[in-house]
Amino acid sequence: MAEMSTLHDLFLDELRDVYNAEKQITKALPKMIKAATSQSLRSAFEAHLEETQDQIERLEKVFQSLDERVRGKQCEGMAGIIEEGRTVLEEDMDDVTRDAALIAAAQRVEHYEMAAYGTLVEWARTMGHGEAAELLQETLDEEKAADQKLTEVAESGINQDAAEAAHGPGEKEEEEEPRGRATAPVRTSRSMSTPRR
Ligand SMILES: [Fe+2]
Repeated sequence: MAEMSTLHDLFLDELRDVYNAEKQITKALPKMIKAATSQSLRSAFEAHLEETQDQIERLEKVFQSLDERVRGKQCEGMAGIIEEGRTVLEEDMDDVTRDAALIAAAQRVEHYEMAAYGTLVEWARTMGHGEAAELLQETLDEEKAADQKLTEVAESGINQDAAEAAHGPGEKEEEEEPRGRATAPVRTSRSMSTPRR
């Protein structure tokens, strides 16, 4: 990194990063679809897998609009998020809890992408790359919609079911009482799962 980077260099770097991130997502989503139990969650993942494939093509158009060769660069941020999600799923848990964990992992992915595309759109606009900005905005809108969809799926009952699976429906009232921060709920949910080690 001897030469000084311009905003255009950063922009291309970020494009290559997100191009690679999208490719990682197309590999992770089929596994998430398999792991999901809720039909609505599975459909949301399936729809987003198709969208992600379109987003990859859209990024290729962005590179072309800039007269740049299409190429990616290992996105360590996305690799970390996906790896973290994978580790959580290795733990023993019931179906609704796994669905809640899948949504949490997927929303981290979406937020990472929203941050990346939000920056890219702004930089493209600032530098006068109108076509690139439009294409990137389309994807940013899709990522936001995907995130919103996941929130709806979570709120449609998965989180509630997962909470009940952890504490039992009879203890719901107790859950509403104010408690100390993380310690009490964490201990309760762990006592229901198989012991670690
Ligand atoms: Fe995406």
